[in-house]
Amino acid sequence: TNKKLVVLGSVNADHILQVDSFPRPGETVTGHGYRVVAGGKGANQAVAAGRLGADIALIACVGNDDFGRNIIKTLSADGILTTGVITVPDTPTGIAIIYVDGKGENSIGISAEANAHLLPEVVEPHLTLLDHADALLMQLESPIITVELMARLAHHAGKTVVLNPAPARPLPDSLLANVTMITPNETETEILTGVTVKTEEEARKAAAVFHAKGVEKVIITLGSKGAFISDELGMRTIAGFSVSPVDTTAAGDVFNGALITALLEGKTMDDAVRFAHGAAAISVTRLGAQTSIPTRNEVDTFIEKEYCST
Ligand code: RIB
Ligand code: NA
Repeated sequence: TNKKLVVLGSVNADHILQVDSFPRPGETVTGHGYRVVAGGKGANQAVAAGRLGADIALIACVGNDDFGRNIIKTLSADGILTTGVITVPDTPTGIAIIYVDGKGENSIGISAEANAHLLPEVVEPHLTLLDHADALLMQLESPIITVELMARLAHHAGKTVVLNPAPARPLPDSLLANVTMITPNETETEILTGVTVKTEEEARKAAAVFHAKGVEKVIITLGSKGAFISDELGMRTIAGFSVSPVDTTAAGDVFNGALITALLEGKTMDDAVRFAHGAAAISVTRLGAQTSIPTRNEVDTFIEKEYCST
């Protein structure tokens, strides 16, 4: 039987505008391609896992609006169990305002809205989802008190607790002590460990800080340089795939959803990271968060092709 995953996190309506360059203070720029697509780090990671074949349930809050009602349907269509997606009365779904520039880079402002209601008493009726799961994946767009509670419950029940510490913020050691695997980028690593990660030597130092706080596995994503791994097998860097970026929004989310999906299937850490690199690379060539997440077939084909051509 398949190992099961629970994702706890945010759902956002992403309002995207493509611009040649980001507006500076006091400046107005004319953009194009305005659209509203499904986003939010929690939902993005859940959709990546669901689309790639994981057995997954999402715990999240949406607003009592058209977007909230619609997203529940599209999440189910991606294979996600949505009994833990709670509709909050008189509150809009979370939102993100996103500029994407000509280089595919983004600038994002978010407002939690319904996501702020994902509090312990709201989550409690859905804890049976966690009982049935092997792993829990969380980010930091949800109330920290809930992230801490869930990490503690899951860790004490012997489950794998994965934390993608995004967006960056300092965290208490008591939370890290309940995290099995952490997946920060360079900025998040610096905020959490005080170590600036420019070289592999520095990545080793940062990983040692996380291990000292009780985290077993550390995966530091290095953008175009790939990902640094530190686990029971040692420390190494696995290169990513180079693609021409259209929109890097949610690349980290796709990496996380894909990584845990592959690990739950029993892939080795190195193969799981390669699989996650492939999924993230495809997503970077497409606009939008959930609109850019590839299917299993696309990732398998991409990886096969990349390894045959090198
Ligand atoms: O990680 C990308 C996500 O961050 C976007 O979908 C946006 O909603 C913000 O939460
Ligand atoms: Na994308």
